[in-house]
Amino acid sequence: MERVNRVALIGTGFVGSSYAFALLNQGVADELVMIDLNKDKSEGDAMDLNHGLPFAPGSQRIWFGDYSDCKDADLVVITAGANQKPGETRLDLVEKNSKIFKEIVTSVMKSGFDGIFVVATNPVDILTYMTWKFSGLPSHRVIGSGTILDTARLRYLLSDYFNVDARNVHAYIMGEHGDSELPVWSHANIGGRSVFDRIHERPSDYKVEDLDDIFINVRDAAYHIIQRKGATYYGIAMGLVRLTKAILHNENSVLTVSAYLEGEYGEDDIYIGVPAIVNRSGIREVLKLNLDRVEEDQFRQSAGVLRETMEPLVQ
Ligand code: 2OP
Repeated sequence: MERVNRVALIGTGFVGSSYAFALLNQGVADELVMIDLNKDKSEGDAMDLNHGLPFAPGSQRIWFGDYSDCKDADLVVITAGANQKPGETRLDLVEKNSKIFKEIVTSVMKSGFDGIFVVATNPVDILTYMTWKFSGLPSHRVIGSGTILDTARLRYLLSDYFNVDARNVHAYIMGEHGDSELPVWSHANIGGRSVFDRIHERPSDYKVEDLDDIFINVRDAAYHIIQRKGATYYGIAMGLVRLTKAILHNENSVLTVSAYLEGEYGEDDIYIGVPAIVNRSGIREVLKLNLDRVEEDQFRQSAGVLRETMEPLVQ
């Protein structure tokens, strides 16, 4: 009999329920258990999603459960916690959400869970580190959504600018999922042709300075969305499904996630957004790009911002 893949989702707010909806629509998991303090909300979500099953690409078992259901989960995805109010940064959420995380991760581990954690709650790099600490699992089995969404935003904006399918745009955002993140222009390309070559061959259409605006739009995208509708959820939900698929289907895909570094990029004992090869075992390997000097500096600074914020919490 084929193995059944179970995802346990903790937190069925905007991000969690959008994730559940995208997961069902893409037919990625066999089982989805939804867990939330707000029982009515997650029970209602489970009912609602089950009613969509006849329209889904395959069968899936979806129910509202509790921490004991994490025991047999392959993946526990955490989206629970407070989100930014207009004007708040992701780092402003650290105190509130790290308290919630201690309780969540301890409860998951008590169930006998021995799978992979995926963390999406902000500040995601710091909460992924906390999850690793609280769980005692090997670091490659604790993964943060990191800059997966920022990278998607960058690819989308570049695809719009160059009028090329986003799937043929290869470019990464690395560092903190937050204000100190950086674009890796030195490796950005359109179907293999560097963005700079593409710009230089069409000077009447493109300008190098436009790349700065594109990056600023990526970095500040969440602020723009939160200002308009109070929260962001569809983009991150689809990013989380992409990551779930890479794990459960053993894809060995390269995704920019928050990974634990042990010397890569000159950093140690930190979770931060980097390109990594992801498969059924979690993070198989951090991909080491040759960054240019500016990018190296920006990455170091971004890691510094995370360390500074985390320091009072890990003492
Ligand atoms: C986002 O980037 C708020 O972290 C969330 O959309």
